[in-house]
Amino acid sequence: MAKVVLEKIEKVFARTGNSHNTRYNKILDAIDLTVEEGEFLVLVGPSGCGKSTLLRLIAGLDKPSAGQILIGDRLANNLSPRERQVAMVFQSYALYPHLNVYNNIAFGLRRLSQSGYFWRFNNKQRLDIDQQIHAVASMLQIEPLLNRKPAQLSGGQKQRVALARAISHSPQVFLLDEPLSNLDAQLRGETRSQIVNLQKKLGVTTIYVTHDQVEAMTMGNRIAVLNSGVLQQVDSPLKIYNNPVNRSVAEFIGSPMMNFITIDIQGDLHAVNRSFNIKLPESWKSNLDSFQGSKATLGIRSEDLWIDPTGGDIKVQIENIELLGADAFLFVRLLGENDVVWQVRTTLGNLFNTGDIIWVNIVRERIHLFDLRTAQTLVKKQKY
Ligand SMILES: Nc1ncnc2c1ncn2[C@@H]1O[C@H](COP(=O)(O)OP(=O)(O)O)[C@@H](O)[C@H]1O
Ligand SMILES: [Mg+2]
Repeated sequence: MAKVVLEKIEKVFARTGNSHNTRYNKILDAIDLTVEEGEFLVLVGPSGCGKSTLLRLIAGLDKPSAGQILIGDRLANNLSPRERQVAMVFQSYALYPHLNVYNNIAFGLRRLSQSGYFWRFNNKQRLDIDQQIHAVASMLQIEPLLNRKPAQLSGGQKQRVALARAISHSPQVFLLDEPLSNLDAQLRGETRSQIVNLQKKLGVTTIYVTHDQVEAMTMGNRIAVLNSGVLQQVDSPLKIYNNPVNRSVAEFIGSPMMNFITIDIQGDLHAVNRSFNIKLPESWKSNLDSFQGSKATLGIRSEDLWIDPTGGDIKVQIENIELLGADAFLFVRLLGENDVVWQVRTTLGNLFNTGDIIWVNIVRERIHLFDLRTAQTLVKKQKY
């Protein structure tokens, strides 16, 4: 198993135009990232932010414009994908349609053998390959499918075959690019935990790319959040959830999206706008000293708002109610502000009707404040 280290990685693509005025797009900028030996790291970010590009650079399918890639302490920039001993699985399964499952898995292994020291198999080597195929097939529960062609498999089965083919190489690093996005919700959930268990069993250093923040929260030891080609934050899922470093991370991690509103921070630590006037925690004073009298963005998650019939921080009108069974989301319009609709998570959803005017309270300690200009967080919470 190998550690992966990225140092100041940059990727620039030439935008096609005529040769006289080629324009360049910087897709990845100054990426520094260390993935520890045996770690499961999830690289997450919105579509188009550069995730696949970064993964392809690590795999050796493309070269960085600047920076270094180290795999297992070896400079890998000029190594071929095979020399890097990485295996990659894509969203599309890329199975050979004319080969059955057994031979799809075997194909990679044979090619590997042929390019190595021997290229004719003796019986012992054949047996080794056969055992390896059965071992990975049983691990991924696809042994009964070994004689089928890809066309005779479901989406989930195909993806398991693609995974089996990738791990049968015993790679040093396992790279997965949105491998579950073609599966339906239920299968996605199942395969998610299968991949996590498989990685635990194999202990292979894994980088898992997804735009799905639920996958990110549930799968990784650590999450790396990428936005517009810049790495925003790398930390455990809960730390990122509770302490996003800036507004873009706060927006992207967590479902439903965090609620936002612009406020004035007054000298006596009051957060004020047309809908509410609340006192911020005293312990934030030193962080906010230089922001007194300025505007900021206040963020609050739907579960950090609670309803009180007798009165509270904000008067709101219910616009819509989504009953989910155990709990519900109320879409509420803040009275006083134009066009600010927040989501409130509650277990009391069936007590209310659309159009009701109710009071909502904000859990002070759970408030996030962001610089209006830089979008950086103003108060780092020590507790989390
Ligand atoms: N070969 C290429 N040439 C030019 N632009 C590219 C190339 N590959 C990717 N891009 C651009 O780089 C950006 C990031 O793409 P990608 O890494 O695929 O994003 P993601 O995987 O996060 O959705 C996109 O704007 C895409 O159009
Ligand atoms: Mg992609």
